[in-house]
Amino acid sequence: MRPYFSEHFGNASSIHHHGQETRAAVERARESVAALLGCRAQEVVFTSGGTEGDNLAIFGIVRQGDHVISSTIEHHAVLNSCKHLQAIGCEVTYVPVDGQGLIDPDNVRRALRPNTKLITIMMANNETGVLQPVEEIGKIAAEADVYFHTDAVQAAGKVPLEVNRIVCDLLSISGHKMHAPQGVGALFVRKGTKLQPMLYGGSHERSRRAGTENVPGIIGLGKAAELAREGLARGDLARMSEMRDRIDQKILAEVEATSVNGKGAPRVPNTTNIYFDGVEGEALVIALDLKGLAVSTGAACSSGAIEPSHVLTAMGLPADRARASIRFSLGKQNTAEEVGFALKLVPQTVARLRELSPVYNKAAISS
Ligand SMILES: Cc1ncc(COP(=O)(O)O)c(C=O)c1O
Repeated sequence: MRPYFSEHFGNASSIHHHGQETRAAVERARESVAALLGCRAQEVVFTSGGTEGDNLAIFGIVRQGDHVISSTIEHHAVLNSCKHLQAIGCEVTYVPVDGQGLIDPDNVRRALRPNTKLITIMMANNETGVLQPVEEIGKIAAEADVYFHTDAVQAAGKVPLEVNRIVCDLLSISGHKMHAPQGVGALFVRKGTKLQPMLYGGSHERSRRAGTENVPGIIGLGKAAELAREGLARGDLARMSEMRDRIDQKILAEVEATSVNGKGAPRVPNTTNIYFDGVEGEALVIALDLKGLAVSTGAACSSGAIEPSHVLTAMGLPADRARASIRFSLGKQNTAEEVGFALKLVPQTVARLRELSPVYNKAAISS
């Protein structure tokens, strides 16, 4: 990326040689992203990230009076877009998930209506890592002649993403979830899809996304896509899923009143979400962070009140168990030593917080 901040600063839309050099690099990056997604380069639209890709897919397709099918566990980039659709006169059906966080494709089929325009269902959930049966959903959409968008932000680089196997018309990815920088992403738009742009301006990105390209970001996304594709082909992620499974096994064996949210469901290799009854997830995140371990909760903290995760509550977890859950995610650079450090730290920290917890004994008795 570095030369594209300095030596190669040309605007990719300029005719002079600086611009042409940059244009060639942007198009090479587009080829790399297309190779990761198994699509044509012309079907890749560069965006500012997952949120923009999700919004463009949804608002680019749906019009007032249309019906949309989504799910209860989508990222807010999709959920809040769907809420806005409802506010402007569209109908949205949110299909539920079961206790493992899985969508039943039959529920998607049953939700179809004559005016259904779009199905938007994520490929991998960002809190649990659970992979949805997108190939079956894609078939249902194709049979019904309805557009299918999948938010593959959490799946890109973690599992193979072939748009023709998924049978989707639109698929969004985000750079910062696959070792590219923040603020860049891409939307696959199948040839022939009638997409209304969200931004009006120049004819960049074949008039699907106006605005001068974020060249260094796009170069970074292209390189990350290339590395992700190579890594997937080499089976590099097996090491990550072994480390993730070790986290699950050790924590469940050593810490009582815990379990994996989404246990047994197919998941991306880098994520696990575990509840620790009697512990506040936020408190655990802070205590672990102070010792050098960065984990997260899915809960959004607004005006001092911690809302339990919509994903975990949709899976049937009671609010206190959802609040007691944290997500561990691994990157390519994580080592077995770091996992060992986490596995020492987590049981100690949970034990200390439970000692201080007025609710823990009750939780232990009720489980
Ligand atoms: C599943 C999912 N969709 C969309 C987004 C939004 O992507 P971005 O942060 O690039 O806007 C995220 C980010 O965490 C995500 O996990």
